[in-house]
Amino acid sequence: LRISVLVSGGGTNLQAVIDAVESGQIQGAEIGCILASKAGVFALKRGEQHGIPTRVIGKEQFPATSMRTKALLDALEEAETDLVVLAGYMSVLEPELIQAYGGRIINIHPSLIPQYCGKGFYGQRVHEAVLAAGEKESGATVHFVDEGVDTGPIILQRKVPVLAGDTTDTLAARVLAVEHQILAEAIQQVLPTLSLKRGSLKGK
Ligand code: GRF
Repeated sequence: LRISVLVSGGGTNLQAVIDAVESGQIQGAEIGCILASKAGVFALKRGEQHGIPTRVIGKEQFPATSMRTKALLDALEEAETDLVVLAGYMSVLEPELIQAYGGRIINIHPSLIPQYCGKGFYGQRVHEAVLAAGEKESGATVHFVDEGVDTGPIILQRKVPVLAGDTTDTLAARVLAVEHQILAEAIQQVLPTLSLKRGSLKGK
């Protein structure tokens, strides 16, 4: 099976998926391509270091949303994608793409969804809000992507404690470590169900 990973930044979640595939933690799958929403992000370097085809498909390259979506769909099809993984991906996908890959797109979010998610809650802002609210715990969530933002069915969640004296950086680091764990585990969980889907598609 083939995984395409969409990225926007440092790519530590991408790295976790690369490591899990290379270590055999994730069986029967390979990363077919990495698509970045902007040029120059370190996630692209990580892909290059592991010989994975990479492309930049973002607002700069394709200002028109419809053209950007078409470019994404073409790249995903060229890579014969079975599973789309959003790994620190900061762009909202169009309904056309969600429908084309319905039930085969997963996202990692650095909070315990449904808390601190949706528009405006991404990256450091999540942890700022958690600390401002005086939460005693936070965590990360992997979920299927539907047409909302961070609203699809939850696949896996894991908690971390919020500790006295935590800053957004110390909390972010504790959550990020858990993101890496549950993203790889969620992919392991979802892959076997996809091969069934692909078979059924062939049957139709
Ligand atoms: C981080 O804020 C992470 O919590 C979220 O996306 C951001 C970048 O992750 N999932 P990565 O290092 O680019 O994977």
